[in-house]
Amino acid sequence: MISMMRNFPPFKKYRGGHWLFALCIFFLPFLAGCPEQSETRIDDMGASRSAFDWQLPAGIPLPREPESNPMTEEKFQLGRHLFYDDRLSVNGTISCASCHHQDKAFSDGRERPRGATGHLHPRNSQGLVNVAWYNSLTWGNPALGSIEQQVMIPLFGEDPIEHGINEANFEQVLQSLQADVQYAALFEKAFPEQDDPLFGDLAWDNIVKSLASFVRGLTSFNSPFDRNELSQSARRGEALFDSERLECFHCHAGYNFSDATVDRTTTTFVEPLFHNTGLYNVDGLGAYPEPNTGRHEVTGQAQHMGQFRTPSLRNVALTAPYNHDGSVATLEDVIRNYASGGRHITSGPNAGDGRISPIKDGFIVSFSITEQEIADVVAFLESLTDEEFISNPRFSDPWQDAE
Ligand code: HEC
Ligand code: HEC
Repeated sequence: MISMMRNFPPFKKYRGGHWLFALCIFFLPFLAGCPEQSETRIDDMGASRSAFDWQLPAGIPLPREPESNPMTEEKFQLGRHLFYDDRLSVNGTISCASCHHQDKAFSDGRERPRGATGHLHPRNSQGLVNVAWYNSLTWGNPALGSIEQQVMIPLFGEDPIEHGINEANFEQVLQSLQADVQYAALFEKAFPEQDDPLFGDLAWDNIVKSLASFVRGLTSFNSPFDRNELSQSARRGEALFDSERLECFHCHAGYNFSDATVDRTTTTFVEPLFHNTGLYNVDGLGAYPEPNTGRHEVTGQAQHMGQFRTPSLRNVALTAPYNHDGSVATLEDVIRNYASGGRHITSGPNAGDGRISPIKDGFIVSFSITEQEIADVVAFLESLTDEEFISNPRFSDPWQDAE
């Protein structure tokens, strides 16, 4: 057991800005690089081959894979079992799927979710759609460059507590997995090069790598938009989306509708991009309410206040409520906020005038738009819904299938 402790993150250091550093120290030998080492990270993501059948349509480039955790079907399948397993939490009440539902494109319909012990998360549960193509993870953290790093946050994080796995309970949590004979076989298939992948020193490392592999394999490119089956209204909406009047396409760019997209054809290091879209303007200084200050929360730099990563808009019609804190109820309201050049609300918890924020992005400028045009843009966004993605048995709960 002592040797297992060695490979386990130091939970006490998880608070504040120290936890990421702590994760890196402990997982560096196994996982994709650390924030201070972006070059290493990109090199590591440069695996040129794939043992995995990505099943992508023509025209979509393969995503990057970390050399330290190349994709395999066996890791994907083990990760799928872990993703849907409540035993992987402090009190057996929460799995990844508690906050990431397949029928909602892996978001959860709540403004903000609660963890295993009732902690309210400050941010909205993200859909997990084509995560493999992002060059930074979560709503606004420039230091999170790999899915492996991200997955450790819900598992081991203390602020907020999500799965609640910590120094005091990790052995017990692991034992509950070890007690299931199915896992012995799944771990052996996923890590055939290891003598004892479920009971040995690398068990937690294997869990993290498999969960990351499952998330990396959640691909969605089969919407009416991809099949060129747009209604008249959606087609008008597409033209508006791509217009200099609305400006949407500048940030929601390319095949994944996000300027935070990288793939195998990207050969250089691409600095992740973040934007302030004028949602808040606390004290007239453009500040966002704590702790949701976006990129600023990590860098502490004033010019990064309120900056978030551009989310993909694939399946966005399924992931309400919207924005990093779930504070916008509908797609129509998202568009209205853009049309007024920022959010302007005179009462309620989000009261304020984001329009006159001094630090909002240059592309966030007001424009006139009719109700019909709003409906057209929404129709276009709805055309990005991939029905196959939300019903694909490959992505569904394997425990339920087995019953
Ligand atoms: C309590 C709810 C909750 C649980 C449980 C949870 N998540 Fe999340 N997930 C979130 C929230 C909220 C975010 C956004 C976090 C942020 O921006 O800081 C998120 C973000 C993510 C992202 C980043 C997606 C992106 O587009 O960058 C990934 C990947 C992810 N979760 C995977 C997982 C996995 C795997 C598990 C299980 C180990 C898990 N989550 C468990 C709520 C949850
Ligand atoms: C300056 C870059 C930029 C422009 C221009 C832009 N967006 Fe965004 N978009 C973002 C960012 C960043 C976020 C996340 C902001 C947040 O949550 O604080 C976002 C969020 C969204 C969301 C919510 C997604 C979710 O998962 O909650 C939708 C929908 C959206 N944008 C649609 C549009 C449309 C439609 C347009 C054109 C009218 C547009 N965007 C223009 C950068 C941009």
